[in-house]
Amino acid sequence: MSDSVAEQLARIEMSVARLPEGLRAHIERSRVVGGELAAIFGVDPERVDLALAGHDLYRAASDEELLELATRRGIVPDGFESEQPLLLHGMLAAAWMADEGGVTDPEVLAAAHHHTTFAPGLGPLEAAVFLADKIDPDKVRRRPWLSTVEESARRGDWKPAIRAYIEAITAEMERHGVTPHPRAREALRALGG
Ligand SMILES: [Fe+2]
Ligand SMILES: [Fe+2]
Repeated sequence: MSDSVAEQLARIEMSVARLPEGLRAHIERSRVVGGELAAIFGVDPERVDLALAGHDLYRAASDEELLELATRRGIVPDGFESEQPLLLHGMLAAAWMADEGGVTDPEVLAAAHHHTTFAPGLGPLEAAVFLADKIDPDKVRRRPWLSTVEESARRGDWKPAIRAYIEAITAEMERHGVTPHPRAREALRALGG
């Protein structure tokens, strides 16, 4: 399927319209921040926006639905994803965007896929998407430590910003007895952390 980004975005927005109001509001806020970070990081705002529009299409799905959707797409969850099916929501969103949304841009798809843990080998476009999701102003209000991440991001220092986020979220998860997905640690190492 080859059509314009506007058509791809319109299809995604039709699906987003069916999501719960709070989630739609988060997606809207992250798209605003994404536009700001795209300008700072020197990446195409339209591509960042497309990824952010679709990144949480499955954020409101139940664990059972996520596992069922993965099975239907031929995705075999790893041990972490079986234990914490929410880890699948980015991958499933990227699969929807490619198959139903007509999105072909590999970086846009990678950005949606990896927006929970980040991953080695990603660049500033995926970073803008990852960080815009994390520094949604509502999230910063709820987790004041995110303001450090936001300051680095707004200076254009996307690698330190992502490192700071992964280090802090890893510590927070471990305090709650949750084991972070190893991809986050791999991403941290790839970013020099
Ligand atoms: Fe998400
Ligand atoms: Fe999100």
